[in-house]
Amino acid sequence: MVLAALHLLAAALYLGASLTLGAAILPAFRGEGGAGQRATLARILRVAHPLSLGCLGVLVLTGAAGVTALKDRYAGEFAARWFGLLGLKLLLVFVLLLLASYEFFGLGLRLTRAVAREAAGEGGLSPGVHARIVARLQIVALANGVLAAAASAVGMLLARG
Ligand code: HEM
Repeated sequence: MVLAALHLLAAALYLGASLTLGAAILPAFRGEGGAGQRATLARILRVAHPLSLGCLGVLVLTGAAGVTALKDRYAGEFAARWFGLLGLKLLLVFVLLLLASYEFFGLGLRLTRAVAREAAGEGGLSPGVHARIVARLQIVALANGVLAAAASAVGMLLARG
């Protein structure tokens, strides 16, 4: 019960954070932003990305507990009854985790490290590279919002039993 509630809470937080970032925050930083704008975005990402990463950790752990509970409940029938839905859900989550790793470590860290270099008076990002990173961050955040919504829909079917 507690683990199921945590799973639901983390799903809602992750979905909300991804869609807010992709649909409302990142569009304001599109284009060839300057150092000041980049520093503001870096401050947002330093909160949003660890929060999202934490939610994904909670989702994987509590999701595994949910699978164990389903196994207990359905014993011998488990594979026949749940293989398709669970397989689809794990595939969605696998792609989501790959994209999230790219978002957090490939794009987000590149931007926040560039801001730290700029603050130290070293070279930062060219306008073209800034624009490319922000555009990719937005695409990945929106794609993960859609994947999280699909994983949630499949999760609700699983929870209905
Ligand atoms: C490895 C990762 C995951 C596994 C193994 C997993 C597994 C499960 C299982 C077994 C259930 C059914 C629980 C029950 O019978 O009460 C469930 C429900 C659910 N899952 Fe996941 N899940 C994972 C990740 C995610 C992700 C990434 C999201 C969305 C961001 C998500 C959203 C949901 C939702 C919304 C429910 C319905 C909860 C309810 O109605 O109580 N899950 N999940």
